[in-house]
Amino acid sequence: MSRLAVIGAGYVGLVTAACMAHIGHDVVALDVNRSKVELLQAGGVPIYEPGLAELIAAHRDRIAFTSDLGSAYAGAKFVFLCVDTPPTYSGDADLSRIWQALDRLPVDEASRILVTKSTVPVGTGAAIQMELKNRGLDNIHYASNPEFLREGSAIGDFMHADRVVVGADEPGIAEEVAELYKGIDAPVLTTGVASAEMIKYASNAFLATKISFINEIANVCEMTGADVSVVAQGMGMDKRIGPHFLQAGIGYGGSCFPKDVLALKQIAGNSGYHFQLLNAVIEVNELQKRKVIHKLKSHLGPELRGFKIALLGLAFKPNTDDIRQASSIVLAERLMAEGVKVVGYDPVAMDNIKALLPSFCCTSSAMEALDGADACVLVTEWQEFLDLDWAAALDTMARPVVIDGRNALDGARLTDLGFTYEGVGRKS
Ligand SMILES: NC(=O)c1ccc[n+]([C@@H]2O[C@H](COP(=O)([O-])OP(=O)(O)OC[C@H]3O[C@@H](n4cnc5c(N)ncnc54)[C@H](O)[C@@H]3O)[C@@H](O)[C@H]2O)c1
Repeated sequence: MSRLAVIGAGYVGLVTAACMAHIGHDVVALDVNRSKVELLQAGGVPIYEPGLAELIAAHRDRIAFTSDLGSAYAGAKFVFLCVDTPPTYSGDADLSRIWQALDRLPVDEASRILVTKSTVPVGTGAAIQMELKNRGLDNIHYASNPEFLREGSAIGDFMHADRVVVGADEPGIAEEVAELYKGIDAPVLTTGVASAEMIKYASNAFLATKISFINEIANVCEMTGADVSVVAQGMGMDKRIGPHFLQAGIGYGGSCFPKDVLALKQIAGNSGYHFQLLNAVIEVNELQKRKVIHKLKSHLGPELRGFKIALLGLAFKPNTDDIRQASSIVLAERLMAEGVKVVGYDPVAMDNIKALLPSFCCTSSAMEALDGADACVLVTEWQEFLDLDWAAALDTMARPVVIDGRNALDGARLTDLGFTYEGVGRKS
């Protein structure tokens, strides 16, 4: 078993630390955010991810948290870079945290392998290797090991990954990193650094393309009387297509798809290639979020000013508290700009939304959000909303209008109860 330093204790870093400890490695997780580290040291977990707190608690003897560089690197043969790479204003990936972490690598003789899990543009690994060489750090070898976990099911995704991709340009290095994953139920693909970096972007861009494609089909279904849920079912039965990522809705969000699709477009552009398809994928997604406004207007009238609209779910997907690039934010801001009184509720993302949109009116339950509302939009399909007492909701709302942005509610039942129900890509 090996000693690992994990740099960045966020969604990817904490899950990596917990799962690597689970299969027997000793892990020290380092973060620049001291309050986060103090919370972790005290036994808390700063993010909501099902099973994560329990897994960390179960392996406290093999996981330590620190903001001290010396204790993070002492004895660590493997250094996993899990820092954030958010989009810049131009859409390129912001690599400042990667370079900051690199500047803080220990200058000693110890043989280490720096393993990048963060999503970084193709060519970043080559630049890092050049930088290590220029600094005379020949003792630090390099591997790319992109992460494919999904928030909300991250532990299961890590422990039973569809694949582990390890890219290295020096012989034997990819194999050493792959060896760490013994105990993880996944096939391993070893490759060069550039291909490993590209696999991550190409995978996310393909999944985003699937979502935008089915959303376009949904929009045509609405105009022609077909039902996109049945259409997707029929398409998914074709093995060449598969059933996954064919759920029509109000667009993809989150910390990965929007930024990675944009970054791939920029990577192509920076190399002189115009990746036309991705422009359409991005545009369709942006328009899809805004389609909800048209639906609300078709039920409430062209002027939304003064209406009260409840948003159920604010996280970008269920089972996470992550609101980065969530459709809820676009919707809330668009509606507020129209003079709507927007209220919202989410089972776990309330603190994050308050920090991002201080003027947003948060409630402490779904029923409270629905009280006196002229319409509600299901933005995130939390089970709590599917199980809601919709008969009681009907009594508490001022008007019985439900826009189901995820096709997750039982539309027939809601209609029977007396709601005006409209989903995505099917007859209202
Ligand atoms: N979140 C996901 O679902 C997911 C999935 C696959 C890949 N990724 C990629 O993994 C990377 C991390 O994503 P995340 O969602 O975990 O980010 P995050 O924002 O949740 O966590 C990043 C952490 O790194 C810390 N950090 C920043 N600079 C640091 C430094 N120099 N030294 C130590 N700590 C530092 C931050 O304080 C933060 O706690 C990104 O590149 C992302 O694209 C994310």
